[in-house]
Amino acid sequence: MASKCLYPGSFDPVTLGHMDLIRRCAAMYDAVVVGVLHNPEKKGCFPVEKRVEMLKKACAGLPNVQVISYGGLLSSLTRETGIRIVVRGVRNVGDLENEMTMARINRQLDPGLETVFLPASPERGEISASMVRQLASFGADLTPFVPKEVLPDILAAFK
Ligand code: PNS
Repeated sequence: MASKCLYPGSFDPVTLGHMDLIRRCAAMYDAVVVGVLHNPEKKGCFPVEKRVEMLKKACAGLPNVQVISYGGLLSSLTRETGIRIVVRGVRNVGDLENEMTMARINRQLDPGLETVFLPASPERGEISASMVRQLASFGADLTPFVPKEVLPDILAAFK
């Protein structure tokens, strides 16, 4: 059976930290579904359609990566698709604490669902979408933080 994982997130917008995780997933699994989901804790900046569009541009060179959006619970998506592995990146201990809770709840809602934690690469460990949004609002150079394919989209949004 071909292996498949779901890499969910807000991707508001996609960063080089996300791309590091997506590339590593693409090397480990036959197929990767990148899911743009709603995080109730966060007020969105880019519309979901735009986030998907930017992710598709950034993932164009990765043939086993598919990008989708989903408006419900992560556990509903995994139930609907039958995907059994969710991958989440962890940058620090704070991330891990939140992720452990989320993984346990998701497993209660969809028994048998496994969450795999991948440590962020050292050179990408400090990047977050919120930091990118803040830098963009001050007109800083975003080249070290976001995929070059989406840089014009982000600059246009913050013009
Ligand atoms: O990039 P993020 O914001 O850390 O991603 C979080 C996300 C979107 C994966 C999470 O908030 C989520 O799964 N949202 C869907 C709603 C859901 O299932 N909530 C219960 C999680 S225990």
